[in-house]
Amino acid sequence: MSDLNGQAREQWATRLGFILAAMGSAVGLGNIWRFSYVAGESGGAAFLIIYLLAILLIGFPVMMSEFMIGRRSQSDAVDSFHKISPGRPWFLVGGMGVAAGFIILSFYAVVAGWALRYLIAYITGGLWNTPSEGYGSYFGGFITSYQPIAWQFVIMAVTVGIVVMGVKKGIEKSNKILMPLLGILIVILAIYSLTLGGAKEGLSFLFKPDWDAFADPNVYLVALGQAFFSLSLGMAALITYGSYLPQKEKLPGAAGSVIALDTAFAVVAGIMIFPAVFAFGMDPGAGPGLVFITLPEIFNNIGGLGIVVGLLFFFLLVAAAISSAISLLEVCVAYFMRKFSMSRRATTIVIGSIIFLIGIPSALGVDPDAPLGGLTLIGGRGFFDSADFLASNIMLPLGGLLIAMFVGWTWDKSEIMRESDFGQSKLGTVFRWVLILAVPVAILAVFINSLNQF
Ligand code: PHE
Repeated sequence: MSDLNGQAREQWATRLGFILAAMGSAVGLGNIWRFSYVAGESGGAAFLIIYLLAILLIGFPVMMSEFMIGRRSQSDAVDSFHKISPGRPWFLVGGMGVAAGFIILSFYAVVAGWALRYLIAYITGGLWNTPSEGYGSYFGGFITSYQPIAWQFVIMAVTVGIVVMGVKKGIEKSNKILMPLLGILIVILAIYSLTLGGAKEGLSFLFKPDWDAFADPNVYLVALGQAFFSLSLGMAALITYGSYLPQKEKLPGAAGSVIALDTAFAVVAGIMIFPAVFAFGMDPGAGPGLVFITLPEIFNNIGGLGIVVGLLFFFLLVAAAISSAISLLEVCVAYFMRKFSMSRRATTIVIGSIIFLIGIPSALGVDPDAPLGGLTLIGGRGFFDSADFLASNIMLPLGGLLIAMFVGWTWDKSEIMRESDFGQSKLGTVFRWVLILAVPVAILAVFINSLNQF
């Protein structure tokens, strides 16, 4: 349990600390910003059903596998595979995870920067009144300017600062209070949103599937990608977090509670957004700006108090985003720190700077009218969408497929039973077969089905 420098490896102070940190990683922009906009673009209820199935069938077993690998190896994304399976190419899965961490954080910090920009506007008065051009154009004006880079920079600087402080002091403490507060606030806002006149349409959009939508292969890929993104899976973030776990922990309970909470956040966020979208006559398929144009309408509707609510909301959203950003950065830092025997501080600053630079084209390439909006990459998508598509819909599910196969196919039956904490129960056997067969087949089927996406 010591690292290369002979120091004792850091560990979570308490079991609750670990679960809270894993929850902090999972709950973030993925639940509110990304969930609403991809659900909105992909037809609502059909998407939601496939997303929930993906969470149960694929998300839970993959999360268990990541915790198991991390706890067993007590090491980082890449070295975990080296340690458990020396001389085999499985470490490449960890390498892909580190690469995905770079890509995701590069655009994640951009969106967290938007939320910070809105928070500041609720503090300084910029959003105390409805902008004369309307919220849609207000957002559009912002993302087509160069300003997002400055906000992205601030987010990266804060994230780097927290990761420099290390596992216990930095990561474990953040969000013990703020995440529950965000939960309470979105429940209240969801109830309020239902009173705005769009409840019927909003709820049927989210919960009443249009059966034709199931015929669209794209919905499956998008829902799968969203499940991975939202649960922080497929890129070794939870291997890395699991590696700070002491050996004796009950993993199924931990994974179950992280998943339940994360899913609840997403569904409540949907109930908060879609009734309002219909009440205000907006387009659910508005894209990445959806929550940034819908929420200010809701706050505006509340009246004077709405300013305080808006301020509180964006503050908590930024906090939730940062606790996720920390886990993304931690994957990269933990790896390079060991690889180059560098200090945590130096590694974090170097890696954080590189990720900031990679994110700049995303910051300037969200909208076709943005400075780099004309730049298109994968399947005609802009830079931001390409980075998101590649990392979230391809790399994460591919990582998850390989992680499940690594445990299911290369570990002994008895190892799987023991390391999963399922023991010799029926559940343990089911779990093992899900890893061996169900997860790989399901993910491959979705991939094959959506080859037209490139
Ligand atoms: N799960 C985080 C969110 O929903 C994002 C994330 C993805 C974090 C992958 C870590 C790894 O906001």
